[in-house]
Amino acid sequence: MTNIKEGDEIYLVFDHKQNYKLKVVTGEKFHTRKGFIELGDLIGKPFGMVVTSSLGMAFYVLKPLIRDRVLKTDRRTQVLYPKDISYILLQMDLGSGSQVVEAGTGSGALTMAMANSVRPNGMIYSYDISERHQKVAARNIDKSGLMPWVELEIKDITKGIPNKDVDAVFLDMSQPWKVVRSAWDALAGSGVFMSFSPTIDQVMKTTEMLNSLPFIEIETIELLLREITVAPNKTRPRTQMIGHSGYLTSARKVIELLE
Ligand SMILES: C[S@@+](CC[C@H](N)C(=O)[O-])C[C@H]1O[C@@H](n2cnc3c(N)ncnc32)[C@H](O)[C@@H]1O
Repeated sequence: MTNIKEGDEIYLVFDHKQNYKLKVVTGEKFHTRKGFIELGDLIGKPFGMVVTSSLGMAFYVLKPLIRDRVLKTDRRTQVLYPKDISYILLQMDLGSGSQVVEAGTGSGALTMAMANSVRPNGMIYSYDISERHQKVAARNIDKSGLMPWVELEIKDITKGIPNKDVDAVFLDMSQPWKVVRSAWDALAGSGVFMSFSPTIDQVMKTTEMLNSLPFIEIETIELLLREITVAPNKTRPRTQMIGHSGYLTSARKVIELLE
């Protein structure tokens, strides 16, 4: 069993809507609409415990999952949703040792999930054109403890990818088609290209470039996630859902195409 230490990040849950990610610092109080919690009182106690606020309201104290970190990212950009991230990790076959190029870093939501998958022997090389965005991402990744598996660099990725023989290239930026050629150069044979784009015309331009180079298994998908409310006599899909995030295009690099 792991006990809570000074400086640990915790995920404090009141209910489905009121939940918070924060750092445990002795002497600090965490204020909520349900009263405050003395953070120092949590040290030495087990994750999973219940803590009572100054107004007598009960909260669960959990260890943040990567999913919680993604949903609670400090953000200056749109971030990828867990539904898309989970598919990306499988499609790119990430595991310990994988070497991955990513652009843009954005708020670092995907970067954290990928770093978590490639540790302890892999690396995420993540580029962004905006210093302001990457600073926020660096803070998020640092808090998650995953920075040893991430290298951040400010770079316009349309000007080229400096890495060679990587296992996967992932693009979440406005003009992915401008990076397809250098993605082919950077990938090891059989490596995976992926891009995320909110609009169909971006997908069409990216696919046209993929078709002009030695890539196979070129496909685009869209994922729709529907949550189910489960309660006696009321079990059915929720009326609200995220209608659209973006399309995921993927392909595999080959050395040459058959006639
Ligand atoms: C939607 S955000 C990426 C979000 C990220 N996937 C996440 O989950 O947090 C897009 C990022 O691409 C960056 N970007 C746009 N054009 C770029 C380029 N040519 N080279 C590198 N980064 C670029 C933007 O600055 C922005 O931070």
